[in-house]
Parts: sequence; structure tokens; C-alpha cells
Amino acid sequence: MRFDLVQLWPLAILSQLVCSQQILWGQCGGIGYTGSTRCVATATCTSYNPYYYQCIPGPTQKSTTSSTTPIRTTTSSKTTSTTTKAMTTSSTTTKTTTRTTTSSSSSSTTKLTSASSTTSTKTSSTTSIKTSSTTSTKTSSTTGICATGTFTPVSASAAFASLMPGLNIGNTFDAIPDETSWGNTVTPANLDTIKSRGFKSIRLPVTWEYHLISQGPSWTINSTWLDRVEYIVDESLKRGLWTIVNIHHDSWISFDTGAANANYTLMNEKFSALWSQIGDRFKCKGERLLFEAINEPGGETQAHAQQLNTMMGLFMTSVNKAGGFNPKRVLVLNGLGMSMDKTEIWFQRPSIYPDQPWGLTFHYYGPYDFIFGAWGKTIWGTEDDKAAIEAEFKMWKGNFTDIPTFVGEWNASPKNVERAAGWRYYDAFTKLCNKYGFSHIIWDAGNDNLNRITNTWFEPASQSILMNAVAGNTNVLADSTLDGGATTQFSSAYIFHKVGDAVTDKTATYINTNGAPISVKTSTGVDLLASGQVGYSAGSTPSTGVLTVKQSYFATLIGSNTAPGVLETLNIAWGAGEELTLKIVLYKAPTVSNPTIPMQTSGDLHIPVQYAGLPFPAAVYGEYDDAARTYVSDDWTVWLGPLQKGRWVSGNWGYDSSSLILSESGLSNIRAKAPAGSTKAILAWEFFPRDGFAVGSNALNITITL
Ligand SMILES: *[C@@H]1O[C@H](CO)[C@@H](O)[C@H](O)[C@H]1NC(C)=O
Ligand SMILES: *[C@@H]1O[C@H](CO)[C@@H](O)[C@H](O)[C@H]1NC(C)=O
Ligand SMILES: *[C@@H]1O[C@H](CO)[C@@H](O)[C@H](O)[C@H]1NC(C)=O
Ligand SMILES: *[C@@H]1O[C@H](CO)[C@@H](O)[C@H](O)[C@H]1NC(C)=O
Repeated sequence: MRFDLVQLWPLAILSQLVCSQQILWGQCGGIGYTGSTRCVATATCTSYNPYYYQCIPGPTQKSTTSSTTPIRTTTSSKTTSTTTKAMTTSSTTTKTTTRTTTSSSSSSTTKLTSASSTTSTKTSSTTSIKTSSTTSTKTSSTTGICATGTFTPVSASAAFASLMPGLNIGNTFDAIPDETSWGNTVTPANLDTIKSRGFKSIRLPVTWEYHLISQGPSWTINSTWLDRVEYIVDESLKRGLWTIVNIHHDSWISFDTGAANANYTLMNEKFSALWSQIGDRFKCKGERLLFEAINEPGGETQAHAQQLNTMMGLFMTSVNKAGGFNPKRVLVLNGLGMSMDKTEIWFQRPSIYPDQPWGLTFHYYGPYDFIFGAWGKTIWGTEDDKAAIEAEFKMWKGNFTDIPTFVGEWNASPKNVERAAGWRYYDAFTKLCNKYGFSHIIWDAGNDNLNRITNTWFEPASQSILMNAVAGNTNVLADSTLDGGATTQFSSAYIFHKVGDAVTDKTATYINTNGAPISVKTSTGVDLLASGQVGYSAGSTPSTGVLTVKQSYFATLIGSNTAPGVLETLNIAWGAGEELTLKIVLYKAPTVSNPTIPMQTSGDLHIPVQYAGLPFPAAVYGEYDDAARTYVSDDWTVWLGPLQKGRWVSGNWGYDSSSLILSESGLSNIRAKAPAGSTKAILAWEFFPRDGFAVGSNALNITITL
């Protein structure tokens, strides 16, 4: 289908001699539209695409492209080169193939679930929040002219290349209903820490819905909220960080294109109103501020995608009409769910504003089972695992060869992912991004990368690996189990010592080594390599190495009454500047005081636990007591390896610092699946190091009576 703004305009629109006037933001034209084509005096009818014209505030503006002029002049103008070069990708719009691996789409829904369930346990923060005290200097004119500010135009590809690596300020301005509702805030000091660690950008997700002082037709954003967002944007830009502001969870509140009763007219009006106001407030910011249309918009079909494409046009038009530097600002567009395949199949390149720099973004949380700790998948990193990601990257590149792209969210959070496997993932993912020219912004919900309260990194080795990989350096990595058929799992991110075992020398093994480590320091800065309490030797295959922590050092940590837990975190520095940690963990199976619990029908079930090693579970196996010992989880998991068979998806289960958690949905799944004749479900919680759940293993059982 040609997407020609002029030729597709039927006379039907011109023939509508309607005297009534359309309200601000109202629709005023488009194929199939039969309402008024005239706007109230303060607005101009503006075309977005053949299907949608809208009343935008302000007088008719002389535009450099025919596509931005009002409907009545558009229809009489010639077809310009801008309009005819649209939709060169029309062949993609008719494709109906869908990929069988739906990692990114399925993960996005799960991420929301897991985000809200983890945050539900947080205590509300009392941190005071600053907003700009210099509001008087703001240029809030509606004329689109900037009295202050400087702007050096930059191409989308240059901007995207410069913003890597970036960090999300997640679960903060996007939290519902307010900034601190999910336990976070963000401060200038956080931005200093982010900048000094080598991050080049922040993505600042913002949910606007709960900060509107009126609903339609104006949808006025509370200026106090705009002040707060602007304050952090200014602090970020001041530090030279590229900064991305978006419309975030409004995607499922107001802009779910796939919602059963979606009113696209209303959706378009509201979306335009929000972007006009955001565009206006930020129009005089420098070129390092980017606007991203909308986060993970829902929808499943071509019709939903078409609506989203319309919204991309509304986004471009609204921010352009707001004026200032916006016509040259880099804009970030996206497809349904920010999933790669839906974007590949349905995204349409905008035809309007040909001089506007823009690029695309997608989110990547794959493979889902590994990233979200589902079905016992705690192992990752084979060549096949990497090839699966690469295959998806290749398809994107094949479809969008010439479109600059960044991965707006990805992660292998220490909350969900075993560390040695997580480090491999950071390294491999970043290198694949380098190879395909994608920039990236890692997700951070305030509980996986930066602890914004203490302003320290939860897990500094991850940042080290990320920065090193961005720079194209080889990372030394902790070796770990890769074999999906294994019955136990080892990880050299840890040295595990079982309570009661004799204290002997223990080893950790490394890959990609290029010489020995420089130092191995305790948390108090003692170098065990220098003191001889740690030794190092080359491994049996090239580029591998073995660190031996000596019995003499363990003897200083482990006595007969030492309580289990993480006894020490050693920092290992290697030649290329990368740092890994090695946690010394004394462990035995955790315990709960009452392992038999009656089913409850509402709310999450928190089961107090005494951790006795690493303070989080690795996986949960579940079966009923019927004769067949039916799995609580998906039956097909019988085909998976010994550490995955019968394991449940996360979301059904979770944890916090003092309890194991069965979520309301998990309990409901147990009830729903219970086979005839069963009286209870037995849940076997496994911990690291994983060695199954038989009696004597590092696991504990909880029985839920039905
Ligand atoms: C705007 O937000 C501030 C801060 O939450 C609040 O105090 C104020 O009442 C809001 N204004 C309106 C008009 O709702
Ligand atoms: C959809 O929204 C428009 C604009 O607000 C409104 O005029 C129309 O009545 C709505 N349609 C339905 C079916 O609610
Ligand atoms: C474009 O994306 C589609 C849908 O994901 C995929 O089937 C196709 O192989 C991709 N094209 C190229 C050239 O990679
Ligand atoms: C936990 O329950 C499973 C399933 O019934 C059983 O195979 C296993 O031996 C039990 N483990 C422990 C530690 O009791």
C-alpha cells in the first residue's frame, strides 16, 4: 500500500460542509471520518497520515513540508518528494509470519508482573524530593521560540552511538501513582555516580496519568510534576549525560492499542495532548535530550500496529508543533510491545518531517526462562545460547539496515540470575550489540544495579564487565556449568563450603584469561595473592586459569560455630582492568519452622525462612501427591534436563530477605491444576549450589495442604 498523503485524500473530506467546529485535539479528517473538519479558533487541523487529521493548538504554521500543512491546503498542493518516499517498506506490512521464539514479547509482560511483585515488599521511602527552584527562568512560551538554551543538531546515529552504555532510572518516575511509590527516588548524587562509572546516558521512564490535573479534552499535566521531571532532566544534561524521556506505563493505562474497548480517537487526542505539553516544556533543552514515544505499547495484530504507527505520527507532529529545538531533536520510535518481531513485521517508517532525526528502539529480555529464573533455568552461555540472540539481532538488522537502533531495556539482574551466568550474559550481549551496531541502556529498578539510597552499586563486577565489553576488551569470566543435562551446578562466582565439611584448599576457575590476576583483595583491602593465601596457576586448556584459596585463609573465616552465610567477598583485579568478585559462602540447607501450610485463597503467602548460605532460592520443583505425582508446573518440562524438570515459573514464587513467597497467582495455579485424588502439593525449594532436591541436598520442602 502506498502511503501517499495527497493522492489518497478522497473528495469525501472536502465535501463535508460541516459547520460545527472540532475541539482542541479532536479529529478533523481522515479516511472514513465523517465529523467536522474545522477546528476551534485556537487550533489548526493537521494531517498525520491518510487516516488521521487532528486539531492541534496554534495558528497555521508555515511548514517546510506539505505534510504538516492543514488539510485544506494539503489537498490542493502537489505531491512532494517527502510524501512519495513514504512506505518503501510496504511489503513488510502484509507479512503474517510470526516468530516462534517470543522471548521479548512474553518477557515484557512478565517483567511488569515481577516488577510490581518485588516492589510490593518495599517500604515507602521518606526521602525528600527536590524540584527546580529556578522555574522562573523557564521558557514556557507557546510560540515555539527559545530565548535560552543551545542546541547543536546531531544525527540519530551519532546520538545513539554516543549514549552507550546507558542506565534506566526505572520504577521511579514511572512508578504508580507517584515517584516513591515503588520505593525509589533519584538524586543528583546518583547521577554523579552513574556518570563516573562510565555510563553515557539515562533513560527516564515517566508515567503521566496520575499527574494530570484534568482529563479530556485538555489532559493538563500538573506543572509541579513537570518541574520535578525537568529538574532531573536538567541535572542529567548538566552532567553531559544523554537523557531520554518517554511516556511509560500510560501505555497500558490509556494507550493499549489492543484493549478490548480501545477508543482510538480518544487515544489519539490524549497522546497528542501529552506530547504537546511534554514537547513544550522541554523544547529548549539541548540536543542530548531525546524523546521516546511510548513504552511497550500493547497490541497483537496488524490493526493494533497500524494504530501505533498513527500514534508515532502524532508524537512527531505534537513535539514539532511545540517548536523550539524539537524539529531537530532526535526522536525515538517503536513498534508493538517493543518486541523485535512485531516491530519488524509492522513498523512503518514515518513520512512526515523528513528532516527530523529519528531511530528505533526495542527491549530484550531473552531467553525468558534464564532472565526471569523460570523452569529452573539457572545456566546460560553455550555457543547455541549466544547464537539464538544473534539470530534475532540479524533479522532486525536485515529489516532495519539503515535505521539507528538502541536496546532501551535489557538485563540479567542479580535478583533473578546466577552471577557467573549473568556475567557471561552481560559480556556476550554487549559484544553482540557491538557487532550489530545497537546501543543499549540496561534496566535498573533500584534493586538490581544501582542502590539509589546508598548510592553504591549492588554488584560492581557487572558494571566492570559491561564497560569493558563496550570498550571491545576481552573479559575474564568466572567459569560455570553450561551443560543443560547436568545434575549439579557449579559457579566460580562463589566458593561454597558446606557446614561440617573439613576445611581444605578450594578452587575457582576462569575463562578468557590472559595472564594471572593482579590482586585478590578482601573487603578490608588485604591482598591475599601477595600474602600467599591465594595462589594462581594456568588451567589445563589455553586461556583458562585456576585460583586456589588456601586452607590457611579458610581457617581464618570458618570456625566450628561460624554462622552460615556469605563470609567474605574477594575482589579480583585482572590485567585489562576488569574486576570480578568471589564470594566465600558457608552453607547448609535453609529451614522453615513450619513446613506444612494450609492453602490460602487470597493474598501472597510469606513463609519465614532461615537462609543458611546465599539468601535466595534458585528454583522451585513442585508435585502433587496423586498416584502419578503430577507436576505443579508445566507437564512439558519433563523433557528438560535434571535441574529443570518439573520446575515452576517465577512469578508463582518469589522471595525477600526473610521469606519465601508463594504469590496469590501461584497459589491459585496450585488449586486450579490439582488432579483428582490429590490432597497436597509439595514444593521443593532449591538453593545455590544446586544439587537437586532429594533428602540431604541443598533444598527444603514446603507442603501446601489442599
Ligand atoms: C500538583 O501536584 C502537587 C504535588 O503532588 C500537588 O500538591 C498539587 O495539589 C497538584 N496540583 C493540582 C492542581 O492538582
Ligand atoms: C471515543 O472518543 C471520542 C473522543 O473523545 C468520543 O467523541 C467518542 O464518543 C468516543 N467513542 C465511544 C464509542 O465512546
Ligand atoms: C525481517 O523480519 C522478519 C520478521 O521477524 C523476518 O522473518 C525476516 O527474516 C527479517 N528480514 C531479514 C532480511 O532479516
Ligand atoms: C521433597 O519432596 C520431593 C517430592 O516429593 C522429594 O522427592 C524429596 O525427597 C523431598 N526432599 C526433601 C529434602 O525432603
